[in-house]
Amino acid sequence: MDPWGLSTTALLAFVVFLILSLWMQGLKRGKLPPGPTPLPLIGNLLQLNLKNVAASFSQLAEKYGPIYTFYFGTQPVVVLHGYDILKEALIDQGDAFVDRPILALIEDVIKGKGVIASRGERWKQLRRFSLMTLRNFGMGKRSIEERVQEEAQCLVEELRKTNGQPTDPTFILGCAPCNVICSVLFRDRFKYNDEKFLYLLKLLNENFQLFNSRWTQLYNFLPAALRVYFPVKPKGLSKNIEEMKHFILERVKEHQKLLDPNNPQDFIDCYLSKMQQEKDNPQSEFDLENLIMTGVNLFGAGTETTSTTLRFGLLLILKHPEVQAKIHEEIDRVIGPNRVPSITDRQDMPYMDAVVHEMQRFIDLLPLNLPREVVRDTQFQQYVLPKGTTIFPLLSPVLNDSKEFPNPDQFDPQHFLDQNGKFKKSDHFVPFSIGKRSCLGEGLARMELFLFYTTILQNFTLKAVGDPNEINFKNDRGGFSNAPRNHQMCFLPR
Ligand code: HEM
Ligand SMILES: *[C@@H]1O[C@H](CO)[C@@H](O)[C@H](O)[C@H]1NC(C)=O
Repeated sequence: MDPWGLSTTALLAFVVFLILSLWMQGLKRGKLPPGPTPLPLIGNLLQLNLKNVAASFSQLAEKYGPIYTFYFGTQPVVVLHGYDILKEALIDQGDAFVDRPILALIEDVIKGKGVIASRGERWKQLRRFSLMTLRNFGMGKRSIEERVQEEAQCLVEELRKTNGQPTDPTFILGCAPCNVICSVLFRDRFKYNDEKFLYLLKLLNENFQLFNSRWTQLYNFLPAALRVYFPVKPKGLSKNIEEMKHFILERVKEHQKLLDPNNPQDFIDCYLSKMQQEKDNPQSEFDLENLIMTGVNLFGAGTETTSTTLRFGLLLILKHPEVQAKIHEEIDRVIGPNRVPSITDRQDMPYMDAVVHEMQRFIDLLPLNLPREVVRDTQFQQYVLPKGTTIFPLLSPVLNDSKEFPNPDQFDPQHFLDQNGKFKKSDHFVPFSIGKRSCLGEGLARMELFLFYTTILQNFTLKAVGDPNEINFKNDRGGFSNAPRNHQMCFLPR
């Protein structure tokens, strides 16, 4: 074969593709908000500093204002920057902004099943059911709070075994939130050295690494034609998700054998009962695939998020001994050394409440939020966003807003306290996002964070290995999610 001929054809095809993609961009641009001028094929990718994505978006907001269009390759994304515009979109026009985009990964592996990636009627049914179940409707006698309290005690026992020696708590802090999801979904927690549990943790860890890689995230936004040439294909990811699905399916089968629909004990029981109730309803989305993928979602969304926040928060406490002293004082006054902390203690513990809020604000775990998509052609401000436009409702600029939080770069619990030391709410507290599609696990996550921190600090004094002032987070930020490097610390029994 004539190699020349081949490459001429390829070149020609490339040029045609280029012209077409430019033309398509021009077409779409007409109605979208202005933004930096995109290059053919790569769009505005050169304007994105992969070491600090949120900062790149903030720089662009300085030039183009709170709403602008950014091209990931040929894919336009409308970026929302700041509290007012976020609220206008996700709350005031919430119904229009409620979909998730069909990203490459979702097409390939998730296939629109489960609660995170689904849309329309399927999402509505799964979301409503999951919210109800997580709010304790029909989960039997053991409340979700009791499950979290049980886990908090096990966590403390495990930390006690470190005998006050320097310890990297990453593994232990990863176990606890994962076990809470196990307890909610499967009824019981696992022992931290159970083989099944360790396997599950391994899968989750891999899953997180694969999902969070910057390349995977970029891959998501490449047009199909280019994905073929991309260095990493998320093969590892689909294998990983298949293994997670298999793990959950095994548990579902056990539940099916023992199911007593009148006496559901956990999420899977509730779902299987719902499936039976709805078996004659052709519109029902309650099938096994949606159950399994929702299970995968709860692990995927509820484990790493919470454990990273826990770990980051403990480092913040280490770095700020004056904060730890005040927390200890409040715990001793309100709970004392022996009683198991409960969520009703929170209203009597404004300082701890403020600390946990300030941790989440400062940590800025998901600076870019999860992407959304408009459900229909949407009139928004002076623009028309065509149906299917991808939206980035950024969280970082709201959490780091200096008008709401003086010195937003400082960790300071006073951001959430008034002059009398009472807890002060802020509508800028958006780590879980806002509106109808905000985090499904917000209630559970906030309960975990409060009970885990309070139980740990009731039992231990945290001590830094080395100078606490040397702990800094400068290089731990900037990705699609913010996580600190591993640190050792000592847990001294009180
Ligand atoms: C510190 C912990 C957590 C943080 C910071 C967090 C944050 C978020 C954010 C920002 C979103 C995107 C919301 C949006 O699109 O507007 C989200 C979605 C979600 N989160 Fe969380 N989350 C946390 C813990 C959890 C937990 C413990 C669970 C499990 C029960 C969970 C389950 C979910 C689910 C299922 C979604 C998708 C909701 C939907 O598409 O309807 N999250 N989370
Ligand atoms: C937060 O805001 C401060 C000042 O307003 C700015 O210096 C800093 O770079 C911002 N941080 C992030 C992570 O955006």
